[in-house]
Amino acid sequence: MRDLSSTTAPAADDTAASPDFDSVLAARLSRRSLLKGSLATAATTYLGSSLSLSASGDVQAAARALKLNFQAIPKSIDDKIAIANGYQWRVLVATGDPLASDVPAYANDGSDEAGSFTRRAGDHHDGMHFFGMSQSARWDAQRAERGLLCINHEAVTAAFLHPQGETVADGKRISEDEVMKEMLAHGVSIVEVRRHQGSYVTQQDSPLNRRITPFTDMELTGPAARSPQLITKYSITGTRTRGTIANCANGHTPWGTYLTCEENWAGFFKRGESDNAKRSAKELAALRRYGIEGKGKHFWASVQPDTADQRFGRWHAAVTGTSNNGSDDYRNVANTFGWVVEIDPFSPTASPKKRTALGRFAHEGAWPGPVIPGQPLVWYMGCDARNEYIYKYVSTAVWDPSDAKRGLAAGDKYLNEGKLYAARFNADGTGDWLELKFGLNNIDVNYANYAFSDQADVLIHARLAADAAGATRMDRPEWGAVNPHNGEVYMTLTYNPSRTLDQIDAANPRVYNDTHAGDSGKTKGKGNGKGNVNGHIIRWAEQDGRVAATKFQWDVFLFAARCSADPQHINLSGLTADNDFSSPDGLWFARSGLLWIETDDHAYRDASNCMLLAAIPGKVGDGGARTIVNREEDKERPMTTHIGKAAEASSLRRFLVGPVDCEITGLAESPDGRALFINVQHPGETTNGKEFNIADPASYLSHWPDGEKARPRSATIVITRKDGGLIGADLV
Ligand code: FEO
Ligand code: CA
Ligand code: CA
Repeated sequence: MRDLSSTTAPAADDTAASPDFDSVLAARLSRRSLLKGSLATAATTYLGSSLSLSASGDVQAAARALKLNFQAIPKSIDDKIAIANGYQWRVLVATGDPLASDVPAYANDGSDEAGSFTRRAGDHHDGMHFFGMSQSARWDAQRAERGLLCINHEAVTAAFLHPQGETVADGKRISEDEVMKEMLAHGVSIVEVRRHQGSYVTQQDSPLNRRITPFTDMELTGPAARSPQLITKYSITGTRTRGTIANCANGHTPWGTYLTCEENWAGFFKRGESDNAKRSAKELAALRRYGIEGKGKHFWASVQPDTADQRFGRWHAAVTGTSNNGSDDYRNVANTFGWVVEIDPFSPTASPKKRTALGRFAHEGAWPGPVIPGQPLVWYMGCDARNEYIYKYVSTAVWDPSDAKRGLAAGDKYLNEGKLYAARFNADGTGDWLELKFGLNNIDVNYANYAFSDQADVLIHARLAADAAGATRMDRPEWGAVNPHNGEVYMTLTYNPSRTLDQIDAANPRVYNDTHAGDSGKTKGKGNGKGNVNGHIIRWAEQDGRVAATKFQWDVFLFAARCSADPQHINLSGLTADNDFSSPDGLWFARSGLLWIETDDHAYRDASNCMLLAAIPGKVGDGGARTIVNREEDKERPMTTHIGKAAEASSLRRFLVGPVDCEITGLAESPDGRALFINVQHPGETTNGKEFNIADPASYLSHWPDGEKARPRSATIVITRKDGGLIGADLV
């Protein structure tokens, strides 16, 4: 249960005198026979490590030498956190918790003042990163005792934010106060944390604590900035926009900045059918491809009267003015969302920058590849929607380690100019990165579905460009992660109920029925038992290990499934009761090379709440080609895919299971590997069922973390090992 007494900071730094992770790894490596090669250098610099590996450092050996240091735990449907023996956890920062010492504790009954959310943690914690911090409050990647935690707040469970739930009548909001609170509970929190009694606590009075919200002024940078398509009443030059929304997963840079990614932002905007007549055919093609239509997720645009700064009307992405360029309304506002946003957590007054060179889509996250001096930097990205694409950005500038201290100025150098690619997975196990460039790969004025006009248009409509180029439509890309020891990239494909037998391909090869899927919780009766019901994790190795390669080799690391499912066609990775899972979502490599897998499940919740598993990865090609036979009703369809070696009890185990109706997401590690931060998002989020009644706590699906009759809250928790050791796996 939550220990409220320890949310204030310790009087003094009580850092344990334990050897840090890098020295453990260094000692380990010094005992090994070593290989020469650029990946050794790559891994060393990726870690931001102080390791002094010889040029012959065998970094792969370290990954092979991991041993899981816990026993698997069973699945659970209890309203609690279940965790492996030998481990402990505590809530670090939950929805509404104060980020300043003069903000009152969160009442959590809907009475908390809306404006106070500019200094409280937001809701629906998601992607996050730990930035180690020096005594002089500067970024120091090696420092574990003190750091800044950047936490995304992807969404809200609106009912629990207000005294009697949200007030909506006829698709209209009548309470300005409610809508303000919902808006301010989105965005990002930056909060200083310090090690305390072997765990961590927040530092409520830190001057670096900060909220980024949908109101924070931001700069639009890169090739699409100043495009006529980015002109709004807020910025008639198309160079600024107001805030960020739908911040799902994340990334970071080798110069110590945070990347927050705008994912399912389209649904926040209102655009009714009456707008269609005022749009060109080209505009309509773009608006429909991105799903900008409907009344808006929370009906924010409906508040009347609006304020002078149009804080409500800005969510109305329709032609309401008389200008011919959108300078007097918000017809183009949705084009200023869907980007990767760079934030310098150590410069609280600096405007975040939206990096248009990385393309506009439903950005799940942006995961850096190996950082190698003299080579370009890369980020891998996925578009989180059914049948969408995987992307890669390659900087034009090559990495100069002296840029590591330059903050957002380094961002301008590496993130404003580069090549954007989408992935095509070929049937033979190879893949191609297809450049999304105006004039290449069918991306031009003659493309039948959308007449591209220039490179800014390509970046603003990256989904359409990837359509034109012929990229592979994936089973809903969620998180990616890059193995620090060999540069291989893993990405979760969470599930895809819309995949049919006629649409399967080698990289998205499974279609089946699961009549138990959706037996419980929010997905009851939603038909999630069709298509790729449980999802899979794909991975690839760039050709010759070069980050800028345009070819790769891929296989499927794991197919998620019920352990009882048919091993020939569904449970292809041989999962057992100790490690079966469904809908992989969060994915993250510890510095040690241990891979963490989180779930946001829709199809196995009759058996378990969402969970966290630890995996010791192999490498691309450690399995082989395999032909499976898909069945749907009375049809059969064989498909040959490429699959990694089967999971073993020694290489994949369930580590933690969350409370009811939550998603486990977000991962960050202290630089010494002795604390793991994860997010428990939206426990008890189902507030639209017939049985739900805000006045009756007994009707809530969850009361986590505060227990008894409390409204449930999202929260970051910090996990430590009771003996202070490395989390999940030891180096042996
Ligand atoms: Fe926000 Fe892709 O989950
Ligand atoms: Ca996710
Ligand atoms: Ca998900």
